[in-house]
Amino acid sequence: MKEHAEKEFITEMQREYSETAIDHARNPRNVGNIPKCDGFAQGTGVCGDTLGIWLKVKNDRIALASFWTDGCGASIACGSITTVLAKDRTIEETKKIDRDTILEALGGLPEDHVHCAELAAETLSSAVKDYQELAKFPWKKDYMNNK
Ligand code: FES
Repeated sequence: MKEHAEKEFITEMQREYSETAIDHARNPRNVGNIPKCDGFAQGTGVCGDTLGIWLKVKNDRIALASFWTDGCGASIACGSITTVLAKDRTIEETKKIDRDTILEALGGLPEDHVHCAELAAETLSSAVKDYQELAKFPWKKDYMNNK
Protein backbone atom coordinates (compact mmCIF):
# COMPACT_ATOMS: atom_id res chain seq x y z
CA MET A 1 0.00 0.00 0.00
CA LYS A 2 2.75 2.41 1.02
CA GLU A 3 4.67 1.57 -2.15
CA HIS A 4 1.57 2.21 -4.26
CA ALA A 5 0.99 5.61 -2.61
CA GLU A 6 4.62 6.54 -3.16
CA LYS A 7 4.44 5.59 -6.85
CA GLU A 8 1.27 7.63 -7.26
CA PHE A 9 2.96 10.61 -5.58
CA ILE A 10 5.95 10.38 -7.92
CA THR A 11 3.70 10.10 -11.00
CA GLU A 12 1.86 13.20 -9.87
CA MET A 13 5.15 15.04 -9.37
CA GLN A 14 6.29 14.04 -12.84
CA ARG A 15 3.20 15.66 -14.28
CA GLU A 16 4.09 19.03 -12.75
CA TYR A 17 7.88 19.00 -12.46
CA SER A 18 10.73 18.32 -14.87
CA GLU A 19 13.10 15.45 -14.30
CA THR A 20 15.82 17.94 -13.33
CA ALA A 21 13.61 19.62 -10.73
CA ILE A 22 12.62 16.27 -9.21
CA ASP A 23 16.25 15.17 -9.16
CA HIS A 24 17.40 18.34 -7.36
CA ALA A 25 14.50 18.14 -4.90
CA ARG A 26 15.20 14.50 -4.06
CA ASN A 27 19.01 14.63 -4.22
CA PRO A 28 19.91 18.21 -3.36
CA ARG A 29 23.52 19.28 -3.99
CA ASN A 30 25.60 21.42 -1.66
CA VAL A 31 23.42 21.31 1.46
CA GLY A 32 24.50 22.94 4.72
CA ASN A 33 26.67 25.80 5.85
CA ILE A 34 30.23 26.60 4.82
CA PRO A 35 32.30 27.36 7.92
CA LYS A 36 34.17 30.66 7.66
CA CYS A 37 32.33 31.54 4.50
CA ASP A 38 33.02 34.75 2.59
CA GLY A 39 29.39 35.67 2.10
CA PHE A 40 26.06 34.63 3.60
CA ALA A 41 22.42 35.62 3.35
CA GLN A 42 19.11 34.28 4.50
CA GLY A 43 15.90 35.26 2.78
CA THR A 44 12.23 34.78 3.52
CA GLY A 45 9.81 34.16 0.67
CA VAL A 46 6.27 35.46 0.29
CA CYS A 47 5.16 32.06 1.63
CA GLY A 48 7.13 32.60 4.89
CA ASP A 49 9.71 29.91 4.14
CA THR A 50 13.39 30.72 4.54
CA LEU A 51 16.45 29.88 2.48
CA GLY A 52 20.10 30.52 3.30
CA ILE A 53 23.08 30.65 0.93
CA TRP A 54 26.78 30.48 1.87
CA LEU A 55 29.60 31.44 -0.49
CA LYS A 56 33.31 30.82 -0.49
CA VAL A 57 35.12 33.05 -2.98
CA LYS A 58 38.62 32.66 -4.43
CA ASN A 59 40.18 35.01 -6.99
CA ASP A 60 36.84 36.66 -7.68
CA ARG A 61 35.17 33.30 -8.42
CA ILE A 62 32.65 31.30 -6.40
CA ALA A 63 34.78 28.41 -5.18
CA LEU A 64 31.97 26.89 -3.11
CA ALA A 65 28.27 27.61 -2.71
CA SER A 66 25.84 25.87 -0.40
CA PHE A 67 22.27 26.30 0.80
CA TRP A 68 19.70 25.31 3.36
CA THR A 69 15.96 25.79 3.40
CA ASP A 70 12.97 24.97 5.55
CA GLY A 71 10.73 25.38 2.50
CA CYS A 72 8.97 23.16 0.01
CA GLY A 73 10.44 20.61 -2.43
CA ALA A 74 10.63 23.30 -5.12
CA SER A 75 12.68 25.53 -2.80
CA ILE A 76 15.08 22.62 -2.22
CA ALA A 77 15.40 22.18 -6.00
CA CYS A 78 15.90 25.96 -6.43
CA GLY A 79 18.53 26.19 -3.67
CA SER A 80 20.36 23.17 -5.06
CA ILE A 81 20.45 24.34 -8.70
CA THR A 82 21.40 27.86 -7.61
CA THR A 83 24.53 26.59 -5.88
CA VAL A 84 25.39 24.50 -8.95
CA LEU A 85 24.87 27.51 -11.24
CA ALA A 86 26.94 29.82 -9.05
CA LYS A 87 29.94 27.53 -8.61
CA ASP A 88 33.00 28.58 -10.63
CA ARG A 89 31.36 31.78 -11.88
CA THR A 90 32.92 35.19 -11.36
CA ILE A 91 31.14 37.60 -9.02
CA GLU A 92 29.87 39.61 -11.99
CA GLU A 93 28.54 36.45 -13.68
CA THR A 94 26.93 35.31 -10.43
CA LYS A 95 25.08 38.61 -10.15
CA LYS A 96 23.33 37.77 -13.42
CA ILE A 97 21.72 34.62 -12.00
CA ASP A 98 18.09 35.58 -11.54
CA ARG A 99 14.73 33.93 -11.13
CA ASP A 100 14.50 33.12 -14.82
CA THR A 101 18.00 31.59 -14.93
CA ILE A 102 16.96 29.27 -12.12
CA LEU A 103 13.60 28.43 -13.69
CA GLU A 104 15.25 27.70 -17.01
CA ALA A 105 17.90 25.47 -15.42
CA LEU A 106 15.17 23.53 -13.62
CA GLY A 107 13.06 23.13 -16.75
CA GLY A 108 10.38 25.37 -15.26
CA LEU A 109 8.23 25.16 -12.12
CA PRO A 110 4.47 25.21 -11.61
CA GLU A 111 3.13 28.78 -11.48
CA ASP A 112 2.42 28.60 -7.73
CA HIS A 113 6.10 27.75 -7.07
CA VAL A 114 7.77 30.41 -9.21
CA HIS A 115 8.26 32.44 -6.00
CA CYS A 116 10.56 29.66 -4.71
CA ALA A 117 12.98 30.50 -7.56
CA GLU A 118 12.60 34.17 -6.70
CA LEU A 119 13.57 33.43 -3.10
CA ALA A 120 16.71 31.55 -4.19
CA ALA A 121 17.72 34.30 -6.65
CA GLU A 122 17.21 37.10 -4.14
CA THR A 123 19.10 35.22 -1.44
CA LEU A 124 22.01 34.59 -3.81
CA SER A 125 22.09 38.27 -4.70
CA SER A 126 22.13 39.21 -0.99
CA ALA A 127 24.92 36.68 -0.29
CA VAL A 128 27.01 38.28 -3.06
CA LYS A 129 26.37 41.72 -1.52
CA ASP A 130 27.39 40.34 1.87
CA TYR A 131 30.62 39.04 0.29
CA GLN A 132 31.33 42.43 -1.23
CA GLU A 133 30.67 44.21 2.08
CA LEU A 134 32.83 41.75 4.02
CA ALA A 135 35.62 42.09 1.46
CA LYS A 136 35.82 45.80 2.39
CA PHE A 137 36.20 44.92 6.09
CA PRO A 138 38.01 41.54 6.22
CA TRP A 139 38.56 41.82 10.00
CA LYS A 140 34.79 41.41 10.48
CA LYS A 141 35.03 37.77 9.46
CA ASP A 142 36.92 37.01 12.67
CA TYR A 143 33.87 37.56 14.84
CA MET A 144 31.35 36.21 12.36
CA ASN A 145 32.38 32.57 12.67
CA ASN A 146 28.89 31.43 13.47
CA LYS A 147 27.77 31.88 9.88
FE1 FES B 1 7.76 28.44 0.30
FE2 FES B 1 8.39 27.09 -1.91
S1 FES B 1 9.66 28.33 -0.70
S2 FES B 1 6.41 27.29 -0.98
